[in-house]
Amino acid sequence: MTWLITGASRGLGRHLALALARRGQGVIAAARDRERLLALAAEVPPGMIKPMVLDLSDGATLAATVARAVASLARLSGVINNAGIGVYKPFIEHSERESLDILQVNLAAVVQVCHAVLPKLLAQGSGHIVNIGSDLARRPLANMAVYAASKHGLAGFSQSLLREVKGAGIRVSLINPGIIDTDFGGASEGSRDESWSLRPAQLAELIVQLIEQPGTLLVDELTVHPLGQDF
Ligand SMILES: NC(=O)c1ccc[n+]([C@@H]2O[C@H](COP(=O)([O-])OP(=O)(O)OC[C@H]3O[C@@H](n4cnc5c(N)ncnc54)[C@H](OP(=O)(O)O)[C@@H]3O)[C@@H](O)[C@H]2O)c1
Repeated sequence: MTWLITGASRGLGRHLALALARRGQGVIAAARDRERLLALAAEVPPGMIKPMVLDLSDGATLAATVARAVASLARLSGVINNAGIGVYKPFIEHSERESLDILQVNLAAVVQVCHAVLPKLLAQGSGHIVNIGSDLARRPLANMAVYAASKHGLAGFSQSLLREVKGAGIRVSLINPGIIDTDFGGASEGSRDESWSLRPAQLAELIVQLIEQPGTLLVDELTVHPLGQDF
């Protein structure tokens, strides 16, 4: 069984790829940074993690590229749409290009990846689409307006798609984390205290446990906060 994970070169996506591969699941690990993906693949037995260089901001070819990658698989367990970008600064300081890139990577690319994989999942009659959102889809925060818009959009997309495909045996789960100790937004993994930021490895374990639940059990939305976060 194989999972496709976007944003697997670093942060939460890297830990998700390792957690799944260590349980014997195959992983197609997608991101732009080839070197990091190769290093990730070398951490587990050969063939468990297959690197896929993929730029989610290249919307023109995205769906076709992903569809080609999954076509050769006997079965696709599902996809974890994890890649995401964002910068903490006032909206007025975002360039139009920056704003459009956030919407493309965090929302449009998820839609495009779903266009690419859903026909296969429907043909199988099973599969799991896991979308990594943000608690900012559920609480307002200044200086993240476009990012919040992308994650609100992702929440709406996930909830609506679920209602279309659950009858065909396909689950859609939205995970809304609070602050995670990763490189996100220009930070660096390991720099944030555990009291107010989630450990990406712990969050990855939790998500994998959710994935491992029987196909008849659905977690449609899960919010996960560090206890010490001010929310
Ligand atoms: N960190 C937080 O506090 C936090 C809180 C709530 C939600 N989240 C969400 O959690 C998810 C994971 O974030 P993270 O914290 O692990 O961030 P991260 O450490 O910055 O990792 C982001 C990943 O996305 C990939 N990525 C970025 N732009 C891409 C592009 N154009 N094409 C393909 N891949 C791209 C990066 O790989 P390459 O650079 O190699 O392409 C990297 O693997 C995101 O959806 C984020 O919005 C994060």
